[in-house]
Amino acid sequence: MRVLIFGKGGQVGWELQRALAPLGQIVAVDFDSTDYCGDFTNLDGLAETVRAVKPDVIVNAAAHTAVDKAESEPELAREINALAPGVLAREAAAAGALLVHYSTDYVFDGSGEAPRTESDAVGPLSVYGSTKLEGEQQIRDSGCRHLIFRTSWVYAARGGNFAKTMLKLARERDRLTVIDDQIGAPTGADLLADVTAHAIRATRNQPELCGLYHLVAGGETSWHGYANFVIGFARRAGESLAVQEIAPVPTTSFPTPAKRPLNSRLATNRLQEAFGLTLPRWEQGVERMLTEILGK
Ligand SMILES: NC(=O)c1ccc[n+]([C@@H]2O[C@H](COP(=O)([O-])OP(=O)(O)OC[C@H]3O[C@@H](n4cnc5c(N)ncnc54)[C@H](OP(=O)(O)O)[C@@H]3O)[C@@H](O)[C@H]2O)c1
Repeated sequence: MRVLIFGKGGQVGWELQRALAPLGQIVAVDFDSTDYCGDFTNLDGLAETVRAVKPDVIVNAAAHTAVDKAESEPELAREINALAPGVLAREAAAAGALLVHYSTDYVFDGSGEAPRTESDAVGPLSVYGSTKLEGEQQIRDSGCRHLIFRTSWVYAARGGNFAKTMLKLARERDRLTVIDDQIGAPTGADLLADVTAHAIRATRNQPELCGLYHLVAGGETSWHGYANFVIGFARRAGESLAVQEIAPVPTTSFPTPAKRPLNSRLATNRLQEAFGLTLPRWEQGVERMLTEILGK
């Protein structure tokens, strides 16, 4: 199998290169790749890449993920999150390739407390959310075989992440304030990549499994709960931390250009039943990541 990965340097793209390696030959590109164009602002270049590589599977891990910045550059966000995936989808349809794509809980308005299912009404609050939603629609409209995984609160040991920021602040300050009214599930890029590998294999024999799935770790927490967990783990691991108090605050305490959903809960029953998988609780993956970054 020939697999073409876009966005190889991102959190998910990096893990995909590991997890998809046993599936066959991997060609992985980024926005500045020289062999093949991986720049999502060059739509003709992307189409040429697909035609040249002739993949069986295209996996798109590239995105405009700077949620606040997207508010002031909506056209660029739309090009990267919607138009480029649309090009990949039409190329996949023409070539008979499977397209794997990632979307977000930000396609929802975050009202209520119930976990959202794949058939629930969407209502993005931000440019990021609406451009990601348009990306999903462009893929569906292309008629290509596809897997779209909506996920949330993605972290990886590599690069910056929320846990690293909390640990840095906890070393420097005696009091932290962290949002406690946004609820979701921290989800490891490694889990996303591993489930992707499994799903690609499964859809080879059962193409009827293609479609839209919610994919997040099990359980739920707030950013405040997440911070408490990270700092508690680090303390037990012997880290010397200055922080004495982690104060819960509402989202309104941290005004940002982009509005974020309060309820980021995603129901994953559909994915677990279709692929026969059990999604581990979020704490399991976060502990692993902390063990790696703390070198314990
Ligand atoms: N991160 C989250 O919390 C989260 C939550 C829900 C859904 N998702 C979705 O999950 C997927 C993977 O996200 P991630 O967390 O791995 O994001 P990420 O680490 O920000 O990776 C995105 C990648 O896309 C690249 N990119 C940006 N502009 C590009 C362009 N013009 N051409 C080509 N590549 C470009 C980025 O490069 P630079 O870093 O150099 O800009 C980066 O390598 C995305 O579809 C995202 O929308 C993420």
